[in-house]
Amino acid sequence: DPGRGTSGIEKSIPVSGKGSCQAEPGDTGDEQDAVLEDYETIEGSEEIRGKKRKMNIQLMEFPRHMDEYGSLVPIEASDSVPFDIKRVYYIYGVEKGVRRGFHSHADLEQVLICVSGHVRILVKTPWEEQEIFLDDPQKGLYIGPMVWREMFDFSGDAVLLVLAGDHYKVEDYIRDYNKYEQIARQYFTENQ
Ligand code: TYD
Repeated sequence: DPGRGTSGIEKSIPVSGKGSCQAEPGDTGDEQDAVLEDYETIEGSEEIRGKKRKMNIQLMEFPRHMDEYGSLVPIEASDSVPFDIKRVYYIYGVEKGVRRGFHSHADLEQVLICVSGHVRILVKTPWEEQEIFLDDPQKGLYIGPMVWREMFDFSGDAVLLVLAGDHYKVEDYIRDYNKYEQIARQYFTENQ
């Protein structure tokens, strides 16, 4: 398994404008708690027209209990992740070549954890996009509101576990990219 342990930002692509976005997984080790305190102030921000835009994402690393019997990663709502978990779902059995997601959420916060195998996540705002490779059950990708996401390159054994801050609400989805761009520009202008 050549990709194991290399979770992180694979590419960092400014979509337009100046500057670049670079998110680092954070220099956390096994013994450290999840990165929580600065999840809102991700490095992946870009100065555009004098305003700080933020990507609203953060890679986090959960502590692991490993012994001769194997590994255990506990996740506590509000402690390990920055919201109360109201829903859990997982995506698996995704065929090669399938790309899914293609939406943003207006309010929902989520943490994506690839608990088996590997997957790539494209996260995108009107200003920048990043591709994140998840292949480590200890790593979580926090995605806040108003971030467009697409999931692809699922390995055959991939299980993508998602922790969500709210129940399933159809009205929270934004599935039209043009509409997303319009709403996102307003959102980031008002919230940054
Ligand atoms: P969808 O959100 O379209 O998946 P993705 O964005 O990952 O491609 O969800 C697929 C189907 O599952 C869709 O019919 C809605 C349903 N669904 C639920 O019923 N509850 C949930 O919590 C989620 C996330 C999806």
